[in-house]
Parts: sequence; C-alpha cells; structure tokens
Amino acid sequence: MAAMPAANGKARVFSGIQPSGFLHIGNFLGAIRNWVRDQDRYDNIFCIVDLHALTLPIEPGALREQRLDLAATLIAAGIDPQRSALFLQSDVSAHSELAWILECFTPMGWLERMTAFKEKAGRQSDERVGAGLFNYPALMAADILLYDTNFVPVGEDQRQHLELTRDLAQRLNKRYGEIFVLPEPLIKQAGARIMGLDDPEKKMSKSVAAGAPGHAIGLMDPPDAVRRKFARAQTDTEPAVRFPAGAGVLNLLEIYRTVRELDPEAVRAEFEGRQYSALKQAVAEAVIEVLAPLQARYRTVRQDDAALLRTLKESAQRIEPTARATLARVQRAVGLR
Ligand code: TYM
Repeated sequence: MAAMPAANGKARVFSGIQPSGFLHIGNFLGAIRNWVRDQDRYDNIFCIVDLHALTLPIEPGALREQRLDLAATLIAAGIDPQRSALFLQSDVSAHSELAWILECFTPMGWLERMTAFKEKAGRQSDERVGAGLFNYPALMAADILLYDTNFVPVGEDQRQHLELTRDLAQRLNKRYGEIFVLPEPLIKQAGARIMGLDDPEKKMSKSVAAGAPGHAIGLMDPPDAVRRKFARAQTDTEPAVRFPAGAGVLNLLEIYRTVRELDPEAVRAEFEGRQYSALKQAVAEAVIEVLAPLQARYRTVRQDDAALLRTLKESAQRIEPTARATLARVQRAVGLR
C-alpha cells in the first residue's frame, strides 16, 4: 500500500514508550528528545504502552501512577498534546484486537530470535515468564501498523522489533493485498545507544537500573545524584583520555556530544589528554543543564491528575477512528467481517 500522507500532508510518525517506572537519559537522548524536535515536521502519535508494561511483574497502583508520571514527563520534555497525539495504549482497544490477529501470523521462530526477549526472559525462570513477553513484538507491530505509520523514531535497541514489524506487514500484504503501510525506523546517529555507566558493554536499561543504582541517570535525578553517578562511572585504567579509548570513555563522550549537539571530532579534540575527572564533571554539568528545566515543568504538570487523564483521553478519541479503520480492513481481509 502506498504510504498515505496524513490529512495535513505530513508523513505519519508513531512511537511508544513503556510506563515501567524509571526513565533514564538513554530514553531521552535516543527517543523523547527527537520526538520533541521533529514535532512540526510530522503528523505525530505518541503512545504510553501500558499493555506492554504488563509483560513484566508490576503492581496495579504503580502502573496507574507511572502512566501519569510518564505522560507528565513527556509533556514536560516538550511534547505538545495540541500538536501531537499522546495517549494510553489501553484506551484504544484496536491495539489488542489487531495484536491477536498478528500473533496468529507471526512464526514462533521470529519471536525466539528477539534479543530483547532473550535478555528479559533470561533473568527469570521459564515458569515465571509470561507469554506476553514472548508475544510482545506482535503487539508492538499492531501499535505501529494501526496508524498507517511512515516513520518510527526509536533507539537502536528497537531496530529488531521494527524489522519484525516490516516482515509481518509484508507477509500479510503478500497474502491479502496491500493492507498495511510499510513503516521505516528513524534512528539518529547521536544518542541511539547509550550504555550503562556501571557496565559500558551493556545498554542503559530501565530494568537493569531497578537493581543497580549506579547504572543509569534518571530523568528525575537531582543534580548531586547526577554528579555522583558520573563520578563513579566505569572508565579504564588510564588516568587521562587517549584514543583509541575504552567503552566507558566513549560512552561519556557520546552522552556529552549528544546533549551539547556537537560532532564527535570536536568533542574528541576538547577532551584528548584531559583527566577523566574533567570529562565526568563536564558531562554531569551538561546533563544537569537539560534536566533542570524538564524537572521543574514536570512538578507543575504532574500536580493535576484530572487534566492529564483528560488530555490522554482526548488524544485517544481523536486517533481511534484511524485505528478502527485499519482493524476493519484487516478483519475483512482475513475473513472476520
Ligand atoms: P522503551 O520504553 O524500552 O524505550 C523507549 C525508547 O527509548 C529508547 N531507548 C534508548 N535509546 C538509546 N539508548 C538507550 N540505552 C535506550 N534505552 C531505551 C528505545 O529505543 C525507545 O525508543 N518496545 C518499546 C515500546 C514500544 C514501541 C511501540 C516503540 C511499544 N510499541 C511502537 C515504537 C513503536 C520499548 O520497550 O521502549
């Protein structure tokens, strides 16, 4: 199916983020900041994927609160619900309905190859891993395909899920005619893969951060915590920055250049030969500078639960007809209508 531009002539962007509690600078630099930046360029739909958050154990009260925390964080970061749809996945039931159909067409082998599943499931025993964690990519494909999405801005860790989404769309298009628009990943060079501060061989992740306080900088971390975590970040045994540098140093340089919007060569030249402590301090101050205004706005926006819920519902109502139209198209194609 030819990519159908939205009514305003702009290409459609869809992206999602889990309300699983702790948000870190990887989420911000790899995704949220880019969503905010390109808000006028595209017709945007941003989704708080609360159904996905059920794939790992979570308390009901926590899920309820974290959805609002995330909505307030996204608004504080600059997502403008007047310009971009911002909604809860569970408010549009077409996500669950299309996910079931897609699961029936997704080979188990494709799902078994997903590294995100292997990493998350690997930490738990087989008896405890829910089938939802395994089927997760089919729900993600449903999210994207429901809205005739052209581009999906994400961090590098989501590339494999995007490939599965495309494969699945192509598989159904081949069998039933052009029912889906083929989405493309939008992954920026800078900030697409921020690594853990305690272990720069592993990507910074919400689930690891839960058990390792030095692993990630949280978007709500106060300045002293940011300074302390960077000061303890793992580097190598050299006292000063030399190239080729180790993974820990490269990660700090990457965070710095992404936050400050500099190119890699300029940052290399700025820090070559300088002590690690100087680099760590510079990164910490740069990060504090972007987090401070975000945190201040968050405190204001988060005060009004009713207003947040209203905003989320209004967006859901605005976009639901598109989702239902796609679902109906698929239901007709497979014989459910
Ligand atoms: P989630 O909630 O884990 O992450 C949200 C976004 O943050 C990016 N990200 C990173 N970027 C750079 N460095 C890192 N260390 C880092 N860690 C996370 C992610 O790439 C993501 O863009 N499966 C998705 C949620 C989802 C979705 C969707 C995304 C559900 N449906 C449809 C796009 C389209 C996830 O768990 O993201």
